[in-house]
Amino acid sequence: MSNQVIENILSRRSVRSYKDTQISDKALKLILKSGEYAPSGMGKQSPVIVAVQNKDTLTKLAKMNAEIMGSDSNPYYDAPTVIIVLADKNARTHVQDGTCALENMMLAAHSLGLSTCWINREYEMFNTDEGKALLKEWNLSDDLVGIGALSLGYSKGEIKEAKPRKENYSIIIK
Ligand SMILES: Cc1cc2nc3c(=O)[nH]c(=O)nc-3n(C[C@H](O)[C@H](O)[C@H](O)COP(=O)(O)O)c2cc1C
Repeated sequence: MSNQVIENILSRRSVRSYKDTQISDKALKLILKSGEYAPSGMGKQSPVIVAVQNKDTLTKLAKMNAEIMGSDSNPYYDAPTVIIVLADKNARTHVQDGTCALENMMLAAHSLGLSTCWINREYEMFNTDEGKALLKEWNLSDDLVGIGALSLGYSKGEIKEAKPRKENYSIIIK
């Protein structure tokens, strides 16, 4: 049986090397919309999605993340777009809500021929004075906490095959 949605899920891979070419606004908007249409606990829509393409802000985010990681390299792999997902900590399911938005956007990007990688450490980044100042600069509530981010762009290299899945990953109880 062939099913494009399932094919898209099975063939998505994390990409860690990007071309400088920026993605189109049309593609970005479709990806963001896919994030917005993710499910959320009690339909509260707790996430806020911030797409960053401004070079100075990308450099700042990379520096903040690298400091937490304790590394000199760019944790966003020099992708031309970075999508940050924050969520309202007052919503009981804010972590799950943000995670659903991230996964929707990874799959949407892949279906459009674009590549992503989930990048961690946004919770710590937006829990610092510098992170809180960025929220203020973006006119966002300080009730928001970082859930995760995506590097987004055109893949530079070959896309690797998925690792085999572990034994008994799923079980069916009838
Ligand atoms: C919660 C989470 C955090 C992750 N953090 C990072 C990260 O900080 N940097 C990175 O390069 N990849 C990160 N990844 C990507 C994983 O390494 C990747 O999904 C995994 O190796 C499986 O590869 P695949 O996505 O190609 O199937 C993260 C993935 C998840 C789900």
